[in-house]
Amino acid sequence: MAQLDAIGLTPEQRARMTVVDHPMVQHKVAILRDESTGTKQFRDLVRELAMFEGYEATRDFPLEPVEVTTPLETCTCHKIAGKKVAVVPILRAGLGMVDGILDLVPAARVGHIGMYRDPETHEPHEYYCKLPEDVDKRTCLVVDPMLATGGSAIAAIDYLRRSGVSDVRLLVLVAAPEGVRAVLEADPGVRLYTCALDRELNDHAYILPGLGDAGDRIFGTLQP
Ligand code: PRP
Ligand code: URA
Repeated sequence: MAQLDAIGLTPEQRARMTVVDHPMVQHKVAILRDESTGTKQFRDLVRELAMFEGYEATRDFPLEPVEVTTPLETCTCHKIAGKKVAVVPILRAGLGMVDGILDLVPAARVGHIGMYRDPETHEPHEYYCKLPEDVDKRTCLVVDPMLATGGSAIAAIDYLRRSGVSDVRLLVLVAAPEGVRAVLEADPGVRLYTCALDRELNDHAYILPGLGDAGDRIFGTLQP
């Protein structure tokens, strides 16, 4: 694995990057990587990890005081101060993270950005986009389990910027240093969260050690 301080980020880029390295997260990522983990368990873990990561990515959401009457007395508590959120999965693998975020932020709206990587060039191709009408007024949590070259994420973030979104946070489960650098350089405002920072990309732009093809493992479409 790579050390965050050794992948060549500027101090400003470093400040926009979080590795969620809680012991429970590391434990679940280890199971996720294992080639013997089956489709059902893989899907469940992606959902759980998305929720853990969602906690970290919403850490700065503003609170407002509310009066709550317990069975014993009334006290001042705090609730989220009306923050509007959209979860935006990059299809198809990002779909696996949506329910984990919705478990945390049930009122969030869901937008979809369809993107696939050309197997030869590794360039992203957009094939579908549907966002909430008021997306420009929402914090967008873009979700995709894998950040490899960064091409898909950069294209998705660019689409959101062109749609007027000012607060974009990218949540991935496994990232390659190449993708981290590319995303943080391409967009000067995006915040990036990952559960693991891996070593490098191979010649096919797959992450090493990685976990293989996330979409195929979530949806059980691995070729025998
Ligand atoms: C995977 C993954 C990302 C992208 C990452 O999707 O889910 O979207 O590749 O690679 P990049 O950082 O080099 O762009 P893929 O294109 O395989 O499509 P899928 O989700 O439909 O399997
Ligand atoms: N997409 C994946 O699903 N896995 C990788 O390692 C790279 C891109």
